[in-house]
Amino acid sequence: MSDVDAQKRAAGEAAAALVESGMVVGLGTGSTAAWFVKALGARGLDIVCVATSQATADLASSLGMTVGELGETRTIDLTVDGADEIGPGLSLIKGAGGALLREKLVWEASRRCVVIADAAKSVTTLGKFPLSIEVVAFGHKTTSLRICDTLSEFEIAMMPRLRVKDGAPVRTDGGNLIYDAACGRIEEPAALGAALKSLTGVVEHGLFLDLADQALIGTADGVTTLEP
Ligand code: 5RP
Repeated sequence: MSDVDAQKRAAGEAAAALVESGMVVGLGTGSTAAWFVKALGARGLDIVCVATSQATADLASSLGMTVGELGETRTIDLTVDGADEIGPGLSLIKGAGGALLREKLVWEASRRCVVIADAAKSVTTLGKFPLSIEVVAFGHKTTSLRICDTLSEFEIAMMPRLRVKDGAPVRTDGGNLIYDAACGRIEEPAALGAALKSLTGVVEHGLFLDLADQALIGTADGVTTLEP
């Protein structure tokens, strides 16, 4: 196992130790979240899970965990999920796994959110990692031009790129498309997020601000805890 994978695994296992029987638990998406799900499944607790993607739901089900729908259960007690970047105040970029919309729905329905990651995800300013922006398929090229105009208002000069895999546009679990914006530096994440969200055709963006309550970061020396 690589050092990065060992850090992801350590963070996932530390987060699994936070869960108690009787909880409703939000399950994130991605390789770090998968370590959490596997460690949680191995504990055999009496819990109900809400998954942020079909891939995570399939993994949890394969481990014998009970997976419910968002809204079927009472408030989610704890959600644990990965991130692409962790910036000041636990501001986050998420979405490389394409699950940002479901992730944000689950995070916002949760009493407590814990982000888990390897050490390389910590940054001083968000934006080096491309920002994922989920858009409806109808008119997406027009929407991408409007996203570009909005980015330029924040002095971010770049054209977002449609996410493609194996020669075809990537579809989210909700059937939408994703544009990735390599912003470089995001100086005003809250204002940028609000401006993107106001565009017709934009469904969601990968800026998760004021949502994470704690971060568990796997490092070469063990798991470090961060608070906002
Ligand atoms: C999925 C996400 C993931 O949490 C994020 O991309 C981190 O992935 P990984 O744990 O594989 O590095 O936001 O939409």
